[in-house]
Amino acid sequence: MIYLDNAASSHPKPPTVHRAVAEALELGANPGRSGHGRALEAARRIHGAREAVARLVGVADPARIVFTLNGTHALNLALKGLLRPGDHVVTTVMEHNSVLRPLAGLERRGVEVTRVPADREGRVRMADIEAALRPRTRLVALVHASNVSGTLLPAAEVGRLCRRKGVVFLLDAAQTAGAAPIDVEEMGCHLLAAPGHKGLLGPQGTGVLYVHPDLALDPLLEGGTGTRSEAPAMPVEMPEALEAGTLNTPGIVGLGAGVEHLLARGVDRVRRQEEEILTWLLPELARVPGLVLYGPADPAERVAVVSFNLEGHDGAHVGFALDEHYGIAVRVGLHCAPLAHRALGSFPAGSVRASFGPFSTHKDAEALVRALHEIART
Ligand code: ALA
Repeated sequence: MIYLDNAASSHPKPPTVHRAVAEALELGANPGRSGHGRALEAARRIHGAREAVARLVGVADPARIVFTLNGTHALNLALKGLLRPGDHVVTTVMEHNSVLRPLAGLERRGVEVTRVPADREGRVRMADIEAALRPRTRLVALVHASNVSGTLLPAAEVGRLCRRKGVVFLLDAAQTAGAAPIDVEEMGCHLLAAPGHKGLLGPQGTGVLYVHPDLALDPLLEGGTGTRSEAPAMPVEMPEALEAGTLNTPGIVGLGAGVEHLLARGVDRVRRQEEEILTWLLPELARVPGLVLYGPADPAERVAVVSFNLEGHDGAHVGFALDEHYGIAVRVGLHCAPLAHRALGSFPAGSVRASFGPFSTHKDAEALVRALHEIART
């Protein structure tokens, strides 16, 4: 099997991730709840994972890293924990439904939303973002790279704009955490949301949200934290303020091991390796007869998430043929990002998406191109 669906969930995971999960299952105790040795050890391992994530994204205080169930949970916590009726939000049409749908829900409760357009390659203009700001703009919510076209959006520039205007900046790093260097200070992020199971190489059921020290979000969930149990309300201390209920200890320590792997290897090296694959792949794909490629042609402008269609071939058929006849796993359809497909010109049919990860090879890219040439001939 050639796994080219890393944008949906990365595979394989480093062996250290498997071991960390197995050890946590064996440990079995509830971190931060009891005082016995096993519970303390579980808490120590959770803290280690928090420190690793903080180091990866340039956060000085690991307590500002909140563990969530996935990227969607982290984004919902950021949006619903921050926004109030009367607030205005600027976002883009390149966002995933994990931003579009909570914002649509918030719109029904009196939050105003402006969706900035994108060009046919998925690029968003800084001038359009700046022009969308209003006196009541509380937040700019931006996806770092499109999960459809791989297009990188101008995160650092938006961060600078937000700092200048006193607006909160939320970056959705679903396709870049672990795949492109991120430093929340340099990028001016107040909130950074990411799934744990994609580029960060952790198990499914994990995600993270960084919350800037100047921000206090309302929790999505309220309940036990193992701290200040006498108080009727949630504690204000982080991360407990936003982490009610028993944590996913096996998942989180697995995520910690995935992040340790990235720290040892270097995200810049992962990025270079994926850019090398793109540098070879993009012109080769353009040579496949009838292939329509979405997103920028320059690898520097994108991550290794590559969407295309084959003229005269149904996308579902191409995805099925790749899986059935060539053992290549891709994702077909709208990728939960309908407005991005509209911008790219691939709505409503969607596209075929091949997404590479830190363990993808040049040979994987060659196999994809060979298979597409053959499918194009049928
Ligand atoms: N958001 C994930 C994807 O793009 C699941 O496939």
